[in-house]
This record gives sequence, structure tokens and C-alpha cells, in this order.
Amino acid sequence: MDLGLSGSRVIVTGASRGIGLATARVFAEEGADLAICARSPEPLEEAAAGLREAGGVVHTRALDVADTAALDAFVDSAAQYLGGIDIVVSNVSAGSSRVPDQWERNFATDLLPFVRLAERAHPHLVASERSGAIILVSTTSALHTTRPAGAAAYGAVKAALNHHAASLARAWAGEGIRVNTVSPGPVDFPGSGWDRRRETDLEYYETIRKRIPCGRLGRPEEVARAIAFLASPVSAFTTGQNLVVDGGFLDRV
Ligand SMILES: NC(=O)c1ccc[n+]([C@@H]2O[C@H](COP(=O)([O-])OP(=O)(O)OC[C@H]3O[C@@H](n4cnc5c(N)ncnc54)[C@H](OP(=O)(O)O)[C@@H]3O)[C@@H](O)[C@H]2O)c1
Repeated sequence: MDLGLSGSRVIVTGASRGIGLATARVFAEEGADLAICARSPEPLEEAAAGLREAGGVVHTRALDVADTAALDAFVDSAAQYLGGIDIVVSNVSAGSSRVPDQWERNFATDLLPFVRLAERAHPHLVASERSGAIILVSTTSALHTTRPAGAAAYGAVKAALNHHAASLARAWAGEGIRVNTVSPGPVDFPGSGWDRRRETDLEYYETIRKRIPCGRLGRPEEVARAIAFLASPVSAFTTGQNLVVDGGFLDRV
């Protein structure tokens, strides 16, 4: 299916590995131009070099999304470099560690940057002739309380983000901007948190894997395709939704 993304101008945060990189790759293969960021410059430039092979323009900036001024400057530079912004994918998270300041970390790295990214990109999305789209990358941990979610910051902060994304969808629909959420279940790739858990705590990894009816964890590209589908004009009448991509992990109707 042609998703109609050729020539789209797309921001993906946290695109040097995992779901973010896979998402940028799907957009690049569909003919979109990209602006991507991550903290470490070298992996970011490596990712960009691979994405440019698809033929599109790729703007990069090394930054911490928790730095509001740097995030604003990234959005502004992306708009300038790409000639506008049609799609924003907010993908960065501080993860689900249980360190004492994890609430502060998820607040600063997951929650506030999504709010800020949406606000800063808003005028560009309004101006988009293709009609603007925002995708929040959330998690199944926002939708249940058992392991691996639990009474911890990660799922709770992502749940707050789900609420904000759904609210923005209704607030901005009249301006032609769609806002949707994609919620992956556990996703494994080399260097991922689950990859590390398989090494350090195979029993726990297997407990989670066995709870997934598809019998395995997800792959980044499986989430990436769902993101591109929802962000694309093919989904022009879909907004305020939360698409779960989890191999059947969540038991819900
Ligand atoms: N993997 C899973 O099992 C899973 C499951 C459900 C939901 N998710 C969600 O999917 C998203 C991506 O997770 P992932 O596991 O694919 O990747 P990840 O290993 O968390 O890395 C994501 C990317 O974000 C960048 N990054 C991390 N912190 C950053 C910061 N403060 N500022 C700027 N960039 C930053 C990383 O590069 P640097 O380290 O160089 O900054 C990397 O490019 C997250 O929102 C996560 O909550 C993941």
C-alpha cells in the first residue's frame, strides 16, 4: 500500500536505535525527509548515514530532550531545514528503571518534552498542506498494573501522556492536526532493555515472553510500521486513538 508519505517532513525524536530508528527508516523508505535527534552524536550520525541511503534529506541534532531550549531549537531548525513540518513522532523515554529519582526522570524526559514538542511544532503542523500528524510512542505499561508495569513512574507518566495526546486530538482536530498514540508491548532488539534482561534475568524475560500469545517479544519495525500507518494520509479520519502493538500481551476487549 502506498502510504502517501513521499515528500513528507517528519521529526522523530530518539532515532539512533530501536523503535525510533526503525520508524525513521520506514519513513525514509516511503520517501519522507527527516529530522532526527538523540543525545550521543556518533550513533546519531551513523543512523543518519543509513537513512540517507534511501535518498531523502536527513537533518540531525544531538540533544537531550529534557533541555527545553535545545528541544525548541531542534524543532525550529527542523522546520527551517525541511521547509516545514508535517509529522512529529515523540519517541524518547527515560525508561522504566526503579532508581530513586525515576519519577523526576520520566517527568523531565517523557512528559514535558512531548508537551513542549507538540506546542513548538503546532504552528508548522497547522501550516502543513498535507495536514499535520503527531504520534506519541507510549507503552502497554500505561494500560495495566501487573509486571512489568507495577507501581512505578514509567507506566503512570505514560498514562498521563496518553490522556494529553487524546485531549490534543480533540482540541486540534479542527485545525487539521491528528494526534494518535502507539503503545508497544515488550520489544526486543540488540542493546535494548529486554536484551539486557535476557542476559541478566532470563527467568523474568521468559515469564514475560510466555505471557505474549504470539510467543515472542516485538520487533522495532513492527511498531514502526504502525506508527507510519497512523501518521500517514491513509489514516486521515483516525485521531485520538491508541493503537496497541503487543502480540496479544494485554488481555482486554
Ligand atoms: N523497547 C521496549 O520494550 C518498549 C516497550 C514499550 C514502549 N517502548 C517505548 O518506545 C520508545 C523507544 O524505546 P526503545 O526501547 O526503542 O529505545 P531506547 O533504547 O529507549 O532508545 C531510544 C532512543 O532515544 C534516545 N534518547 C534516550 N534518551 C534521550 C534523551 N534524554 N534525549 C534525546 N534522546 C534520547 C536514544 O539515544 P541516546 O541514548 O544517544 O540519547 C535512542 O536513540 C520509548 O518511548 C519507550 O518507552 C519501548
